[in-house]
Amino acid sequence: MNTIIEPFRIKVVEPIRMTTPEQRESILAAAGYNVFLVRAEDVLIDLLTDSGTGAMSSLQWAGVMRGDESYAGAKSWYELQDRVQEITGFAHILPTHQGRASERILFELLGGEGKVVPNNNHFDTTRANIEHTGAKAVDLVIDEGKDPKTRHPFKGNLDPAKLEALISEIGADKIPVVMVTVTNNSGGGQPVSLENLHAIRDICNKHELPLFLDACRFAENAWFIKQREPGQQDRSVREIVRQMFDLADGATISAKKDGLVNIGGLLLLRSPELVRQADELLILTEGFVTYGGLAGRDLEAMAQGFDEITDADYLQYRVRSTEYLGEKLLTAGVQIVEPPGGHAIYIDAKHFCPHIPPRHFPGQALVCGMYRHAGIRAVEIGSVMFGKEKAPPMELVRLAIPRRVYTQSHIDYVIEAISELFEQRDQLRGLEIVSEPPSLRHFTARFREL
Ligand code: F0G
Repeated sequence: MNTIIEPFRIKVVEPIRMTTPEQRESILAAAGYNVFLVRAEDVLIDLLTDSGTGAMSSLQWAGVMRGDESYAGAKSWYELQDRVQEITGFAHILPTHQGRASERILFELLGGEGKVVPNNNHFDTTRANIEHTGAKAVDLVIDEGKDPKTRHPFKGNLDPAKLEALISEIGADKIPVVMVTVTNNSGGGQPVSLENLHAIRDICNKHELPLFLDACRFAENAWFIKQREPGQQDRSVREIVRQMFDLADGATISAKKDGLVNIGGLLLLRSPELVRQADELLILTEGFVTYGGLAGRDLEAMAQGFDEITDADYLQYRVRSTEYLGEKLLTAGVQIVEPPGGHAIYIDAKHFCPHIPPRHFPGQALVCGMYRHAGIRAVEIGSVMFGKEKAPPMELVRLAIPRRVYTQSHIDYVIEAISELFEQRDQLRGLEIVSEPPSLRHFTARFREL
């Protein structure tokens, strides 16, 4: 059989509501043409993010009921610790309320004025947490990773030559940690190969630098390795995952992605000295070391989520269904970041709206067009998000796919809507900013259509 199906059946349903074009027009205007300011109930298909938007399994919901709400030493904590130790091999696991809380703790310890943290591509909260300490975040993804059209099996790879060059330019003592994001969200959800992780590990060993993973989507990355990396086909996802983590000295994880939960995060560490310091900060702002800002039921759901995520049937369906969306859009003439990523499809908005210059936000124009035309919500990753000082190299619109939430007919609807919009693309209008906050403007900026 060639048909890859959703490897689950549906036990609980949540209605979604279609709006009329007139309603959407006034909703958009009232939201200042910023879909972050639209109420979720006015969205039909919500592709804003794959973070915390997944559907939990019946076993996870059973775990919610089992959750032990003791302040210290809850059974649910030990359950989570055991599962995560088994999967990652890390002895020291700190629970946090989400990924950026792990980042905040890590960079408060390792960051600071004069420091430089390389990554393939920093996610925006990672960058913000590094820069908040006065350190600098630099992106060293391979050149192929910057061109939407180049097909490369591991477009998320960090360029070893660029890393060596950075180290000899500024000196290893300025670099407190080397990060690698798997999969590379800001670079199109593209994977990183084991070969690349080994190469980066070797450089880190040579210069005595710690290597950390931003491992939000570790299982999707492992699946790509299994599919694409020579010699990996016969290994289990678990073995590959373990090898990825074995190469690292630590990891920050948002469990809202491959942890299959709606809230939660982890900080994994090897250095006992770092663990001691991180525990202190954790207690200061998140909570005691056996719950880290989460309820016992959250820990229980996380433990089960990490167990389910490495299932090969699930990962095959997950990656294939994202690829399906990407391939159909390409067939309709829509340029996307190729090849399709794991958790999302990134539309090249410069190609979609050649008549709209970056200063008038082609990505935002497309986001508004998709909402207006079909009630679909996506996110701009271009000049609105990153272009305050100068336009970024790519103007993208991300369609992020929540885990286990939408069926193939939802995705077919998205394909049809975007294909129709592509036919009428000359009608999309650029925007200008009416008001914006000092930082992270994409969340709250308001626009006017030109
Ligand atoms: N690192 C990466 C690679 C991410 O994609 C995210 C979140 C984080 C860290 C932060 O995790 O949200 O739990 O604090 N990405 C979401 C997204 C928000 O939409 O891509 P968090």
